[in-house]
Amino acid sequence: MHLIRRNRILRVSPAMRQMVAETTLRPADLIAPLFIIEGKGEKEEISSMPGYYRMSIDNTIAEVKAMWGMGIRSVLLFIKCADEAKDNKGTEALNPDGLMQRSIKAVKDACPEMVVMTDVALDPFSIYGHDGIVADNEIVNDATVEVLAQMSVSHAAAGADMVAPSDMMDGRILAIREALEQAGYAKTGIMAYSAKYASCFYGPFRDALDSAPGFGDKKTYQMDYANRIEAVKEAVMDVEEGADIVMVKPAMAYLDIIREVRNSVDVPVSAYHVSGEYAMIKAAAKMGWLDEQKAMMESLTSIKRAGAGLIATYYAREAAQLINGQ
Ligand code: PBG
Repeated sequence: MHLIRRNRILRVSPAMRQMVAETTLRPADLIAPLFIIEGKGEKEEISSMPGYYRMSIDNTIAEVKAMWGMGIRSVLLFIKCADEAKDNKGTEALNPDGLMQRSIKAVKDACPEMVVMTDVALDPFSIYGHDGIVADNEIVNDATVEVLAQMSVSHAAAGADMVAPSDMMDGRILAIREALEQAGYAKTGIMAYSAKYASCFYGPFRDALDSAPGFGDKKTYQMDYANRIEAVKEAVMDVEEGADIVMVKPAMAYLDIIREVRNSVDVPVSAYHVSGEYAMIKAAAKMGWLDEQKAMMESLTSIKRAGAGLIATYYAREAAQLINGQ
């Protein structure tokens, strides 16, 4: 054979492969979600997310400092709200001394350069476990948006660099941007969960925060996984309304959506490698059916290759360690 083009030449050695790699992961690409609980010295493993923990603020701070040292540049905060503080309107979400607000301050004090993002949705604070206010068994859009805007201002006041609305109500990005402007938080950004699908892959997360919906499901606000064009509509509208970053969620089953959104907007695109996607790798690895590190790196690299420059993942720390050769 006298082939003119031999594609295997570029795969011949690790050095050659590294030289021509089109996609490389950096620790700064990774957003680390953190689950925060009340107390001191607390660290509870989440049963459906082996190796992942709910931590009190003091332990969270230590974790954030360690992550900064590994090159991770952003964290995404979630809190577990006490049952007694839950209601239908998310009252506790606006408490200036609430766990979220105290956590933001503590993390910013301990590691001022870390980009602190916060989840904005009512589900951890809702007696119904829904992302919005419930009336007559429905999730009410406009009244919810008002609370989300106030919640965002409250997070900005505590020092958040970006708010991350994960609720999928209509019009919330514009309402949040306007509320931030009015309150004088012109430097606070918005990472919009723009194409967030109604997905079974959130199951372990809802265990982590005890936030599973008490009735029904989230299909009247989160997207139908049958749809692709609708994701572009959501992302484009969020950019028009003032989103600084748009997100696709989940990630692995939605790589086509990540690419479609990447090709349709002019802002950074992030993807959320969600709890169920993490749990699947963990479970298969535990059974000895998959090599965990390889599955992790292949998954995260695929998500970046699809078009997500930023990836929220429970593997942030382990991936950063591996990238750093530690
Ligand atoms: C809450 C929220 C959810 C996740 C992030 N923010 C759960 C949900 O919408 O039910 C899921 C994250 C994950 O599964 O890792 N609005």
